[in-house]
Amino acid sequence: MKTLKPILISGKEVLPLIEGGKGINGSDGRSSGAWAAENCVGTFSGVSPDCYDSFGNVIIEKFFKKDRKERHEEMVEYAIKGGVAQAQVAHEISNGNGRIHMNMLWELADSERILTGVLERAKGLIHGVTCGAGLPYHLGALASKFGVYYYPIISSARAFQILWKRAYANFREYLGGVVYEDPWLAGGHNGLSNAEDPTKPQTPYQRLVELRTTLNNLGLNETPIILAGGVWSLSDWQDYIDNPEIGKIAFQFGTRPMITKESPISEAWKKVMLHVKKGDVILQKFSPTGFFSSAIKNTFLEKLIERNNGEVAFASEPNNEFSHALKLSESKTIYIRPEDAEKANRQINAGLTEIKETPDNTVVFMTPEDWKQMKADRAACVGCLSQCQFSTWSKANGTTGRLPDPRSYCIHKTLYEVGHGGSVKDNLLFAGHQVYRFATDPLYRNGCIPSVKELIEKIKKGE
Ligand SMILES: Cc1cc2nc3c(=O)[nH]c(=O)nc-3n(C[C@H](O)[C@H](O)[C@H](O)COP(=O)(O)O)c2cc1C
Ligand code: SF4
Repeated sequence: MKTLKPILISGKEVLPLIEGGKGINGSDGRSSGAWAAENCVGTFSGVSPDCYDSFGNVIIEKFFKKDRKERHEEMVEYAIKGGVAQAQVAHEISNGNGRIHMNMLWELADSERILTGVLERAKGLIHGVTCGAGLPYHLGALASKFGVYYYPIISSARAFQILWKRAYANFREYLGGVVYEDPWLAGGHNGLSNAEDPTKPQTPYQRLVELRTTLNNLGLNETPIILAGGVWSLSDWQDYIDNPEIGKIAFQFGTRPMITKESPISEAWKKVMLHVKKGDVILQKFSPTGFFSSAIKNTFLEKLIERNNGEVAFASEPNNEFSHALKLSESKTIYIRPEDAEKANRQINAGLTEIKETPDNTVVFMTPEDWKQMKADRAACVGCLSQCQFSTWSKANGTTGRLPDPRSYCIHKTLYEVGHGGSVKDNLLFAGHQVYRFATDPLYRNGCIPSVKELIEKIKKGE
């Protein structure tokens, strides 16, 4: 195993090892502070981060306002307070070592306001901001204003080039690095473009070489590339270290740090991860953001997959192709293909009697209980995303103008619940595709949970 050399990240020489940001409550001040304490980089999530009462107890989010726009304001207020609180915790734990970064989901409604609010109030505590899920054009200007380094998360050289040309060229000084997140392997949301086939993964080497060539052509030869997605043991990545074709590189771990003593996720969640088998992480497109994402196949995901498999196309009026009548309610009948009639009946007979339209001229089938829950989730929307396919909320226009999509779910609700001890069966469990390695990696034998320090020692040795 090659010895890892420190590199300059966010203004300091640190080991090129980074804990990736994970919302909601998948990485926080405790975990990021522990990574920084080891002279690495820790990233706390700025997506609904926890804040504390005067006794140090977590304040569980509660929304009191009737109007969704006002609930959205409540959410923003929580997020700013929480971001500052997590930065303070991380700073204390780090003892001034390493670097502390904050992660922000660009597609979060008012992500710029939240970032600004946190950076204003946590001056000197946050050294860098990482930002993905969408093209964060304003990130360079925003971070530079605060003298904080910025790290766009991209999945292709092309995406970076667009960001550079349209925005970052004017904010060269504080570009700290570029996170290349493997769109086929990483946990959480995945940046697959329309040109890329989710079933045909490409190895990262050539894509990284392309990114390095792009960076060098822009005069960014010293800008590190941070490789994220599928990074478990550095012995798998020896060829990427000290390689002039790739240049300066750091490694970001998202899934692996989740089973450490300092990781904020519940014991039940850690237990699930310890037993995942190869192939149990599914790359799918149910997220209300419209992005692909990777999560563990549990009851929550199985239900969405089943609903998706049961989807049937329809026409509002009968015609040669769509001639079989299907009653949605007393007042509404739609027409499906005769060959889909059996599929529809099978679902209805199995108790999936609520038939709901999607925005794509199809219907899906669900139980009355699931439909009731879906309505309640939509009614409780706090407007977390800039645009939401599940509820049709749009920060800019009030609504997207499309039909709400019953193939999706409220991501804020489910991530918040599981991030605060909720069911690991009935909530979304984001995870990277290498999560199955917990089950065979000797570090976790007999359910052993290492500290961040122990994990980093193993990583340095290529284990
Ligand atoms: C549970 C979970 C939540 C995540 N949430 C976020 C997030 O909110 N923002 C983000 O930019 N990346 C998020 N990620 C991606 C990680 O930061 C990291 O880049 C990715 O997990 C790396 O791939 P790996 O899981 O194979 O290590 C998340 C990943 C996981 C596993
Ligand atoms: S319904 Fe959509 S916008 Fe509203 S809170 Fe849930 S995920 Fe966010």
